[in-house]
Amino acid sequence: MFNFASDNAAGLSPPILKALIAANEGFAGGYGNDEISNALTQDFNTLFEREVSVYLVSTGTAANSLALAALTPPHGVILTHEHAHIIDDECGAVELQTHGARLAPVCGQGDKMGGKITLNALEKTYQGLVKRVPHSLVPATLSLTQSTETGEVYTAHEMQALCDFAHSKGLKTHLDGARFGQAVAALQQTPAELSWKLGIDVLVFGGTKGGCMGVEAVIFFDKALAHNFELKRKRAGHLTSKHRFLAAQMRAFLASDHWLDNARHANHMAKALSSKFKKLAYPVEVNAVFPILSDEEAAHLRAQGVVFYAWPCETPHTYRFVTSFLTTQEDLTFTF
Ligand SMILES: Cc1ncc(COP(=O)(O)O)c(C=O)c1O
Repeated sequence: MFNFASDNAAGLSPPILKALIAANEGFAGGYGNDEISNALTQDFNTLFEREVSVYLVSTGTAANSLALAALTPPHGVILTHEHAHIIDDECGAVELQTHGARLAPVCGQGDKMGGKITLNALEKTYQGLVKRVPHSLVPATLSLTQSTETGEVYTAHEMQALCDFAHSKGLKTHLDGARFGQAVAALQQTPAELSWKLGIDVLVFGGTKGGCMGVEAVIFFDKALAHNFELKRKRAGHLTSKHRFLAAQMRAFLASDHWLDNARHANHMAKALSSKFKKLAYPVEVNAVFPILSDEEAAHLRAQGVVFYAWPCETPHTYRFVTSFLTTQEDLTFTF
């Protein structure tokens, strides 16, 4: 009750738990050599309206770092938002898996960026990189996050412009989609229209935050880029031997658009929650709300058992509230 700590505070969405129990029947091949895992690739081909290469891992950190390692050489530079999850929250996993690539933070450059990178800021950051081969590292990859850590969505137009710039400079593009479903639900466009059709080369399609137990799909739209990914995943300890249980979760997540239904619900609850607050640090576009609260207001909420975190950012007294598929109207009945 009243738990807005994170979307991973919710457990498993019931159809996913059911699918896990069904997958528990009998024997199956290990390491992805089973019927459920094979069927999943076809599910993703259908979802993205083209052939894709799909690899499952159990955490977003593994998915991001291994996907970026597939795109970026050790002497490469990855441009990303200054507060991207891969910079602030993954303990150097990207540097580890790429064997030393550098993360170049894209800062506002005078623009008020929020959680999104602007084209202007990207261009200026790219221009500011020293390019004296062989003395400097080589710009290799652009990493974006959709939806962003601060609950905003890039429009298709915005993302296309960023990808076009990246490709014009010979960079590959990665999308951290831990909350891709919430963005698709908000924008009401197809997964294809919001990924490869805009120029995304590799997408991390998040399952955990939408209601899975721990499964993220790394989707390569250009199969050539997946070269050696299987080896990287195994070497990192992320090839799950009872792989059918990851695949079963993801199949149930995709079936009948369950992933989208859960995302729509979470987004809807965030909108309803946001109407309780007077001041917000970021617009509410998906399933996160960032109210600005006085110390007294925060204490009053906590005294009622409301769980949420402080969110360090340029606006003091900002807090983060996250909704999920499990949030109910009753969870919004605290007083403010
Ligand atoms: C934007 C983003 N990317 C990736 C992740 C996945 O991280 P984890 O390694 O905890 O599954 C998260 C989780 O908080 C996230 O918010």
